[in-house]
Amino acid sequence: MGKLMQTLASRDDARPNALPPAAFEADDVFLRLRGLTKRYDNGFVAVDNLNLDLPKGKLLGLLGPSGCGKTTTLRMIAGLNSVTDGNILIGDDDVARTAPHKRDIGLVFQSYALFPHMTVAENIAFGLDMRGISKHEARGRVEEALEMVRLPGYGNRKPKEMSGGQQQRVALARALVIRPRILLLDEPLSNLDAKLRDEMRIEIREIQKRLSITTVFVTHDQVEALTMCDVVGVMNGGKLAQLGTPEEIYEKPENLFVAQFVGRANVIDCEIVGKDQAKIGPTVYRCDTKGLSSGAAKAAIRPHRISLTPDRDRALVSNATNSARGRINRVTYIGDIVQYDIAIDGATLKIEVPTASAGHGFGDGDTLLCEWKPQDMLVFGR
Ligand SMILES: Nc1ncnc2c1ncn2[C@@H]1O[C@H](COP(=O)(O)OP(=O)(O)O)[C@@H](O)[C@H]1O
Ligand SMILES: [Mg+2]
Repeated sequence: MGKLMQTLASRDDARPNALPPAAFEADDVFLRLRGLTKRYDNGFVAVDNLNLDLPKGKLLGLLGPSGCGKTTTLRMIAGLNSVTDGNILIGDDDVARTAPHKRDIGLVFQSYALFPHMTVAENIAFGLDMRGISKHEARGRVEEALEMVRLPGYGNRKPKEMSGGQQQRVALARALVIRPRILLLDEPLSNLDAKLRDEMRIEIREIQKRLSITTVFVTHDQVEALTMCDVVGVMNGGKLAQLGTPEEIYEKPENLFVAQFVGRANVIDCEIVGKDQAKIGPTVYRCDTKGLSSGAAKAAIRPHRISLTPDRDRALVSNATNSARGRINRVTYIGDIVQYDIAIDGATLKIEVPTASAGHGFGDGDTLLCEWKPQDMLVFGR
């Protein structure tokens, strides 16, 4: 089993009362990137030896900061950027050197890239014309595609007569109408306002599931990646930093980059002093050292995985939790949550508590007990 297949199988495993997971056979993998590399003419390596497998019908999110190589990867899959090195397998075909229009790929850009002088129907039919599909069949397919994106009857409008969200759905219909083997989406929601973005997230995911279409979705937005995707590939500097289910990426980041990019984390200098033991300042805490040897390291603890109690007299020693006495340096009210900056011996922690919970009544200068579980203290080598 490949890594991704294990990944997806193990997620099924985790579901209570689930039947034993059907192992993904190699046959289920539909898109394979092998050593995919892009060096631009100026010598810059934007994508560096990317390897990943995506099973048929699954939605892969490529997540990473601006400039990490997401668009370059997508454009290589689509055939809009030449491949410097490596292979792109769709089913059994290596398409890395195939002309774009022969790859059977649907592509949606961030900027909808609709032709303004054409009607919605003409925009959608454009790819069908190019593929030599008859006018008669095209009409039926365009109507079907418009229904798919919940815009039936909009065919005669011009793009400028539609909202941003509707234009993006037209772009999606245009990509789907050719019945592509793979759908590629490059930050399709970035130009929409927050509320519409939430709706489109759900809508794109529903269409993708209904059609069972193998999809790669590029985003710099971790919420989009975590909420929409079956599997997430986190990219950093042209390389894959981690590939896993949303839960794995968030709960078990394999490196400090992923821990910090996906969700927020307090990152603290520490020193590994033994198996599953790390020292911050003078105090030894329990954690997961993942087989790292003794020495300088970084610990990451999510702000909402630390609880606060006013119980200053409680014994600090326990196997189940870590405890540290701290003093509040700053209280920031952020609506749903309250954020506390708390100095413990050797570090400052940011801690977030839901406003509604009992813990939000602390003030500047209060001393209290900070507690977190060993599994919530993730330790990474420097
Ligand atoms: N035509 C080009 N020539 C040289 N460098 C480029 C070119 N296009 C993009 N890059 C660089 O490649 C890197 C990756 O770009 P891109 O794939 O667009 O990143 P992302 O989509 O993750 O923001 C960036 O540093 C970008 O400046
Ligand atoms: Mg991009």
